[in-house]
Amino acid sequence: MIKLSPEDKKYFEGLFEKIDKKMKKVAVRSYNKIPYTAVNGVHDDKNLVDIEWWTNGFWPGMMWIMYVQTGDEQYKKTATHGEDMIRKALHTNITGVGHDLGFMYDISAGVHYRLTGTRQAKADAMLAANVLAGRFNIKGGFIRAWNYREGGTDNSGWAIIDCLMNLPLLYRMSDFVHDERYTYIAKAHADKTMENHIRPDGSSKHIVSYDTKTGELIEDFGGQGYQLGSSWSRGQSWAIYGFVLSYIHTGDIKYLETAKKVAKYVIGCLEEEKDYLPLCDFRQPKEPVIYDSTAGACIASGLIEIASIVDEGEKAFYLEPAIKLIKAMTNKFVDFSEDTDPLLLYGTERYNTNKYHIPIIYGDYYYIEAIYKLIHEKRDDILFW
Ligand code: GLY
Repeated sequence: MIKLSPEDKKYFEGLFEKIDKKMKKVAVRSYNKIPYTAVNGVHDDKNLVDIEWWTNGFWPGMMWIMYVQTGDEQYKKTATHGEDMIRKALHTNITGVGHDLGFMYDISAGVHYRLTGTRQAKADAMLAANVLAGRFNIKGGFIRAWNYREGGTDNSGWAIIDCLMNLPLLYRMSDFVHDERYTYIAKAHADKTMENHIRPDGSSKHIVSYDTKTGELIEDFGGQGYQLGSSWSRGQSWAIYGFVLSYIHTGDIKYLETAKKVAKYVIGCLEEEKDYLPLCDFRQPKEPVIYDSTAGACIASGLIEIASIVDEGEKAFYLEPAIKLIKAMTNKFVDFSEDTDPLLLYGTERYNTNKYHIPIIYGDYYYIEAIYKLIHEKRDDILFW
């Protein structure tokens, strides 16, 4: 549990009410879409072009959080309809799906099942978990990230920090079938990630490449960060949140210790910025100033999770930065207009791109999730992952 001051409690409750006013409209306007970003305030639609895209679970997932908080049936309808659309990525479009199955199906179908016990939702989550388990390299001890692309690099030994967020799907699968096999895979991958992605200073690499026959580390790549050796902020957020989730699901203290280690490093980076806004890479050049609000939102949500677990004396260390992050981003990055679709602006897919400072659906998702957790003072009524 965490405890907010009465002022903060009021502030975040008020914030959720504003989000709800906007989202009630968006849930209707984007009912037939699977949004990823927005152009001129209007959601795009991955359902039409890219149903296997890794972010497609965030829209239904976000609708479930809104439903849990408000009880408004429209949110449930939109969430369920979204799941009906993304189900085809598990069947006819399966060739395009990589390791992102937790992002796609744990926060959508998985949450749906946990809330309602619906058979179809459970079947989706179970199928997704099995596809994910199938990506495990037994000799290497890791889950392969992306698929081979004709003419592309051999990436059969590549694993990425993001995958930690997919592991809860496997932990939950073990519960479904009363069989630890899935947990063994998840833990093997988490251990390997701890060993090879996390640097001594608490920062995290994005992509590492393993020998597929021995699991030996070959090299690492800068990935979506500024460059090799830098510190891509969303990658750091995946590490914080991903490791604390592995702790929650397994009780293995080393995962909590690793989440705390990365969190301490990240809090130090945030403290260096006078406005507390999340940069895209904590080691990027001073100019241009590129932000990534999605990293900020995910870091906040992960920190709240840590704060809710640690001893009383440690809680404020993790909770206060989360609150500061959400407040700073609310002041600078959020669009509350009921006439536009996206909520959190200033997301950035990768450092080396010209597509920065755009709304991205998982930014909205983690922002809403973090505020939900704050107003509930993180009682363990529901864990979305
Ligand atoms: N999982 C890919 C990303 O964070 O952009």
